[in-house]
Amino acid sequence: MQKIQPFRVMALLAEAKKLEAEGRSIVHLEVGEPDFITPEPIIEAGIEALKKGKTHYTPSAGKPALREAISQYYQDSFNVNVSANRILITPGASGALQLALNVLINPDDKVIMADPGYPCNRNFVYLLGGKVQAVDVDADTGFQITVESLKKHWRDDTRVLLLATPSNPTGTLIDRKEMKFILEFVEERNGMVIVDEIYQGLTYSGTGFTALEMSDNIFVINSFSKYFGMTGWRVGWIVVPDDYVSDVDKLAQNLYLAASTPSQEAALSAFKPESISDFK
Ligand SMILES: Cc1ncc(COP(=O)(O)O)c(C=O)c1O
Repeated sequence: MQKIQPFRVMALLAEAKKLEAEGRSIVHLEVGEPDFITPEPIIEAGIEALKKGKTHYTPSAGKPALREAISQYYQDSFNVNVSANRILITPGASGALQLALNVLINPDDKVIMADPGYPCNRNFVYLLGGKVQAVDVDADTGFQITVESLKKHWRDDTRVLLLATPSNPTGTLIDRKEMKFILEFVEERNGMVIVDEIYQGLTYSGTGFTALEMSDNIFVINSFSKYFGMTGWRVGWIVVPDDYVSDVDKLAQNLYLAASTPSQEAALSAFKPESISDFK
């Protein structure tokens, strides 16, 4: 625990909310949240689910219809075929990151990640007794890890490369060609890549891509929090390689049983055109 740092932005948020409750007017620039609320059709679906008594556990891997809907979303938005069986619903990308690292890391395994990067990631690795290889990134490489930097930093006991595109905190993207080279580099060394795509779609131009276009043998993290404006509902997903489905499911069963049922019901409405047009 001595190595675990607080996630300072959440501490600041708590402080700001306290001041707000005391009547102060606060402009929130601290936490990564869309400044709009959840689209109306999603909220209605959540209320409807509660009224219909959908208050029990779902399977740990998530509501089958939601897993199917995400699979369809990959097909419709990115023309990529991802079977619903490989998609598990999680309590936000936070739950997904923990599942991925838990299933991949043994004590002393090394995980490469960009610095600056999402602050919680290193703490997840510390909790598992893993080692963090923080790679300094700067404007020359768009604040992202590249194949060139991997050549310098990859070691025999490096097990995982953790990427985020668009990244937090810099918001920069890894381009398609570089992503392909990176995935090949790690695959050749029998490592595993986790790509955090939580900010997918929050770009100034173009529709972007998913790393799932290039490989089935990677972990991809995503969430309803950001693009779908659902930070407080705590629902996200993970896409895992076929061989890992039952182990990741086993971990989910133990770690949190299942993601919130009303939130999963609400999330089913996120892919409806009227929801998407609400936040486009
Ligand atoms: C890069 C990144 N990954 C994961 C998360 C966790 O998001 P959530 O658990 O709300 O889906 C965040 C939250 O800000 C983030 O910025």
